[in-house]
Amino acid sequence: MTARINPSILSADFVNMEAALATIATADSVHVDVMDNHFVPNLTFGLQMVGRIQDVSPVPLDVHLMIDDPDRWAPEYAATGAAGVTFHAEAAADAVELARELRARGARAGISLKPGTHIETIVDDLAEFDLVLVMTVEPGFGGQSFMPEVMPKLRSLAHIRERRGLAFDLQVDGGISTDTIGIAAAAGADVFVAGSAVFGGDDPAARIAELRRLADDARAEESRSAGRLAE
Ligand code: DX5
Ligand code: ZN
Repeated sequence: MTARINPSILSADFVNMEAALATIATADSVHVDVMDNHFVPNLTFGLQMVGRIQDVSPVPLDVHLMIDDPDRWAPEYAATGAAGVTFHAEAAADAVELARELRARGARAGISLKPGTHIETIVDDLAEFDLVLVMTVEPGFGGQSFMPEVMPKLRSLAHIRERRGLAFDLQVDGGISTDTIGIAAAAGADVFVAGSAVFGGDDPAARIAELRRLADDARAEESRSAGRLAE
């Protein structure tokens, strides 16, 4: 499957959100970062704004909740019609119960791991999720540097997914650019969040196409070298 690119509107102009959304109509989804100034030291927007983005977005919503008490709030984000809602493993009281609730409301259920969080937290429950987000920066801010040290975690999840025949998406978020996307793609990611890389230039559509091509090339190269090793 072709790599999916989800631009993060954290790097867009918040007072021209509708115009910003129109520039990423060729993306697979729009990544919507909700921050509460408690789970992370930054504040963005909440339910009302996400509802309006849902009304005007040309592409489905991929909501990333960086908030405390997602057990209470995440279902309400699913109720806006968002295609996917991802909450943090570190913040949820009962991740499995919450994922079931999100699915019952028609959203894809995602779980996110901060760079320091081990996969043991979720490894027995992977069938409950439609997406696992492996953070490649500490959540909270756009424009940070990609953390290659997280790649072994991504590779482990990709192996487990294959071994168990599971179908969850593997998403990466943070520091994804034309320089780093190939590293994450080779490690097994298939959905790529990119904020500053997409909105930082003057042609978001061109950047989306370039990122997608680089990720696809890296994956093709990775499977060719895996094939060579198997020979
Ligand atoms: C960071 C957010 C990211 C952020 C990524 O906490 O979750 O989605 O927008 O921004 P870049 O791509 O600039 O690192
Ligand atoms: Zn995010």
